[in-house]
Amino acid sequence: MADLDGNQENKQFYTDIPQTTGAFHIKGSNSLDWGMKNRLARIFNPDSGKTVMLAFDHGYFQGPTTGLERVDITILPLIPYADTLMLTRGILRSVIPPSSTQSIVLRASGGPSILKELSNEDIAVDIEDSVRLNASAMAVQVFIGGDYEQQSVINMTQLVDMGTRYGIPTLAVTAVGKDMVRDAKYFRLATRMCAELGAHYIKTYYVEDGFDTVTSCCPVPIVIAGGKKRPEPEALQMAYNAIQQGAAGVDMGRNIFQAESPTAMIQAVRAVVHANETPDKAFDLYTTLINQTA
Ligand code: R5P
Repeated sequence: MADLDGNQENKQFYTDIPQTTGAFHIKGSNSLDWGMKNRLARIFNPDSGKTVMLAFDHGYFQGPTTGLERVDITILPLIPYADTLMLTRGILRSVIPPSSTQSIVLRASGGPSILKELSNEDIAVDIEDSVRLNASAMAVQVFIGGDYEQQSVINMTQLVDMGTRYGIPTLAVTAVGKDMVRDAKYFRLATRMCAELGAHYIKTYYVEDGFDTVTSCCPVPIVIAGGKKRPEPEALQMAYNAIQQGAAGVDMGRNIFQAESPTAMIQAVRAVVHANETPDKAFDLYTTLINQTA
């Protein structure tokens, strides 16, 4: 028989070397199953433990946001610099090349537009479609203190249950209504609730006072949204502060795709997130990259 020919008899069992069992690199995720961990590892870089998520799902409630009118023209050039793409399945299927190897975080809640009460969301993606699209996580908006607080929390717990059946993590996005206070006390409440109810990681906003207490008492990773467009040095400073105070990355949209040079900005953000670069040095990189292409 061919496969017995040439078999070597000197097998090596390495009986003197115990098999290593390393700790998983993502906060609070050690007890998850292999598929969940593998998907999270596609989001959070195993070397730095951090992620640069490029968020461009804004159209799901506000239509063609400034900078996203033509995703094929403005966003595709940024993809090589992102660890993860956060987007809707509509844009994924219609615009993103299936040859892209970046991980996908799929917007999985929706319903109301900016013309209505935004907290009145429902789950908007079937779990089978998330599997079909090879999603590394599903994102759901949670409106703590909002008109439809309970419904949005149940959306999240249902996604956690569905995702757990298939090994797909859930990202809880803490949404803040227009009239709500954005402070550390509020974000400690919102992020901790999401984690206690099963979210695998949480997106929230950076706050100047006490952000380290938000990350400290949340048992799973926190990434920050960028929020409204700021001058580039300020956005880099915010990302730096968040990382130094325990954030595991950014899920940034407008401060990247509305920057004067989105390609340079995402590289500067990467330097802050993955290499702990200071905001000044990251801004130097930003201007250098712009000058190189001028
Ligand atoms: C908003 O709900 C969207 O989900 C965005 O993904 C999120 O706000 C992050 O984008 P930005 O950095 O523009 O705030």
